[in-house]
Amino acid sequence: MSFGSRSRALLGAAVIGGIGLAVNARWRATAAFAVARWDVPLAPRHHGLDGLRIAFLTDTHVRSAGDVVSVRRSLAAVAGCDLLLLGGDFVSEAARYMRPLLDTLEPVIAATPLGACAVVGNHDFTVGVDRVAADLTACGVIVLRDGNVELRWRGNSFWVAGMDESLLAVSDPNLAMNAIPSGAWTVALWHEPDHAELAAEAGASLQLSGHTHGGQVRLPWLGPLAVPEGGKRYVDGWHCVHGMPLYVSRGLGTYRPPVRFRCAPEITVFTLRAASFPPCAGARAVPSSRG
Ligand SMILES: [Fe+2]
Repeated sequence: MSFGSRSRALLGAAVIGGIGLAVNARWRATAAFAVARWDVPLAPRHHGLDGLRIAFLTDTHVRSAGDVVSVRRSLAAVAGCDLLLLGGDFVSEAARYMRPLLDTLEPVIAATPLGACAVVGNHDFTVGVDRVAADLTACGVIVLRDGNVELRWRGNSFWVAGMDESLLAVSDPNLAMNAIPSGAWTVALWHEPDHAELAAEAGASLQLSGHTHGGQVRLPWLGPLAVPEGGKRYVDGWHCVHGMPLYVSRGLGTYRPPVRFRCAPEITVFTLRAASFPPCAGARAVPSSRG
């Protein structure tokens, strides 16, 4: 092979490899979601909640029929869960995408014993937060905007507190949690993870967040290419914040550019477990062995 033909062959291989990577990042990597399952330890005073299963879905960013298909497939993980929590950024570009999303969510919410609670995200503000919240409420979802709700499971109370979105609104964790009895087990939903200290100080037992998408594109050795404001300190996974476990999901959808690389979409299932050690933190939360 001559030098010229060898160069053309190398260039061709590079182009084909680049196209393959791009196709994989755009379609395959955005559709191949993971079901992350975690056991979360409970302090002794909350052992009555042992076995409670909570599914967490966030950042669906629905804007196409293909996105709805991904959501529908992921919802198989909610089967057997007692409660579904939704972390915001439901749609992108336009609120009209709420309809196909809710058509998919509604039967799952109806089949979930404790139903669903939600907070809103920054993209929900962009497309019209009042419309998004109204659509969710009409579907039976409890929308928490600096508010909380008491739920009962096997005779035990626990609370879900939802902080309002913190980039385009004003979040007030104290307002969200001030009516909750001191020491009650409380899961805080907050779209952005970076102010978790405030939730911990307000008394939350666990915070669940999304917003970052895990960075979407994670380069070897370098990590995420870019993360948004409000998600720069806690990008994904478990963290211990002032004694409170914080979990940041990579979310299910994407935003511009609509690609993922080494950062699979996810839906998360938490099972609360009686434990003899303190509930914090991620290092203590262990992957669940059950499928
Ligand atoms: Fe998002």
